[in-house]
Amino acid sequence: MSDPSGPRADQRALDLEKTADWYRRFRLLETPGQSALYAAWADGVENDAEVLGLIVTLPRPKRQPNLVFTCARLLGAPLTGYRDFRPWLVEHWPAVAAQALLRSTQTNEPRRLTAIMPVLAGIGPELALLEVGASAGLCLYPDRYSYDYSGRRVDPVHGPSTVLLTADATGPVPLPTHPPEIVWRAGLDLNPLDVHDPDDVVWLQTLVWPEQTERRDRLDAALTIARLDPPLLTRGDAVVDLEKLVALAPAGVPLVIVSPAVLVYLAPEQRTAFARTVAGLGHWISLDGAGVLPQVDALLPQPPVPGDFTVSLDGRPVARCGPHGQSLDWIVG
Ligand SMILES: C[S@@+](CC[C@H](N)C(=O)[O-])C[C@H]1O[C@@H](n2cnc3c(N)ncnc32)[C@H](O)[C@@H]1O
Repeated sequence: MSDPSGPRADQRALDLEKTADWYRRFRLLETPGQSALYAAWADGVENDAEVLGLIVTLPRPKRQPNLVFTCARLLGAPLTGYRDFRPWLVEHWPAVAAQALLRSTQTNEPRRLTAIMPVLAGIGPELALLEVGASAGLCLYPDRYSYDYSGRRVDPVHGPSTVLLTADATGPVPLPTHPPEIVWRAGLDLNPLDVHDPDDVVWLQTLVWPEQTERRDRLDAALTIARLDPPLLTRGDAVVDLEKLVALAPAGVPLVIVSPAVLVYLAPEQRTAFARTVAGLGHWISLDGAGVLPQVDALLPQPPVPGDFTVSLDGRPVARCGPHGQSLDWIVG
């Protein structure tokens, strides 16, 4: 008989503790002002040994609160407090676990372009744009959306868009009259989502947190724009397959490679390899949370605030922004 207090039991105890801590950090850092429901669910999970015991049966990356909660909602979890959610989750755990193994969080948030568009405009009026970790490619249309930076408006050259991206802006954000024209757009993703596929669209919609109706409306409007002119999306890895896609970019216009909210999914050595690869291929704009690119964080005037993202151009920070582009604080003139 195996020793119940042996190394396996130690590993399980550590797994339970780390998972509880993950749900606690999610609740404290990510849910405030975003989702009272997810805060309540995370609060319940972090103190519930039986539910934590189910969650740790998943491989580590799949224990992510956002992934587990989105899979539960996809399968019809009641959108009420933990008292109702808990029995539902226990009963439906095999189905939730199967979805979590199948899927990953691929939230596509065009509002992140509030941080990217001014950087693009500083590079040139006409650009080729390649997004790494593109999801459904909704961040590939900076020229088709309208923007509002604390009352300063930027519209596409042909007039206001049905998608308005707003940011609380501080600092000397350099705004153009119109967004730059994108003459070529392409995306690379381990699992590209198809704006015409109903299953992919439902997954994208469910990834928007329950109370965020404004985000869901924006997603639907952006999907309509993308469906009229779907982007070139290629299945592949950020490091291994980037050069093949870059080879398709047209000559004669600057190529800009953007990597919003994706490098966190890469191991630290892959991030270093990606930064090295991208440096020889074109300009590189990235949006990352604190600690994802320590070499960029080190150049910030103040240490990064947990929960905020840093916007960088060619490895140098230019601004801080909210993780979904809801705020933008320009730090260089
Ligand atoms: C959080 S989503 C961000 C989507 C989009 N960039 C945005 O900001 O709206 C991260 C995306 O990166 C993709 N991804 C993760 N690791 C990757 C890798 N090694 N190579 C390519 N794509 C990857 C995921 O499939 C997912 O679609």
